[in-house]
Amino acid sequence: MSAQKDWIDIKEGEGYPLQQFVLPSHYKEDLESVMIPYGLIRDRVGKLAHDIAQNSTKPLVACCVLKGAHVFFAHLMEDLKKLRRPNGESIPLSFEFIKVKSYINEQSTGDVKISLSEEDMQGFKGKDLLIVEDIIDTGNTMVALIKKLKNYEPASIRVVSLLLKKTPHSNGYIPDYVGFSIPDLFVVGYALDYNENFRDLDHICVINEHGKAHYAV
Ligand code: IMP
Repeated sequence: MSAQKDWIDIKEGEGYPLQQFVLPSHYKEDLESVMIPYGLIRDRVGKLAHDIAQNSTKPLVACCVLKGAHVFFAHLMEDLKKLRRPNGESIPLSFEFIKVKSYINEQSTGDVKISLSEEDMQGFKGKDLLIVEDIIDTGNTMVALIKKLKNYEPASIRVVSLLLKKTPHSNGYIPDYVGFSIPDLFVVGYALDYNENFRDLDHICVINEHGKAHYAV
């Protein structure tokens, strides 16, 4: 399936001042702005689930890319469970959890570590996989993950990513479903992290220089 380019495009400079939202006080010095409020994210996830249901014909193995996609995954599955295919049938769903790590501070290390047991991956043979990712930045993680999964001969692989970063470092990869395209800024919240921090923030926010220094490793 080709990518549907009807995602919400967030432009440079768009966003909301911090004081217009309720935010955890422990992050008040570390954020620049609210880029995407939680309510808008939640509504957009509902539309992604709707689009996935419209294109579904077989049982789906939904693969959550940990840790950053876990909130997105939970909301997407909650919506998918309630939806029907165009022929009125519900969609049989099973879940897998894949741990992938490629970032330290705000830099991609280029070295993508995927942890999933051989036994789990052998079970992908002949199945329709839906990979659920939080953000595509350079695209290197997803290209490496798809390459690895293809070795296990799934019937199909589709990818849904909540965010797609508009960056000159992109390798050109575009997922099948995208929630929002965003400017080339490091974002946190809705389970996206900076060195394991900010996952406990509901809105997607832009981290500031103080936050980067404060939580650097
Ligand atoms: P890529 O390989 O450069 O596409 O990076 C994908 C992964 O990097 C994502 O799954 C995230 O874990 C992480 N990442 C990239 N950009 C951001 C960001 O702005 N905030 C938080 N994590 C990010």
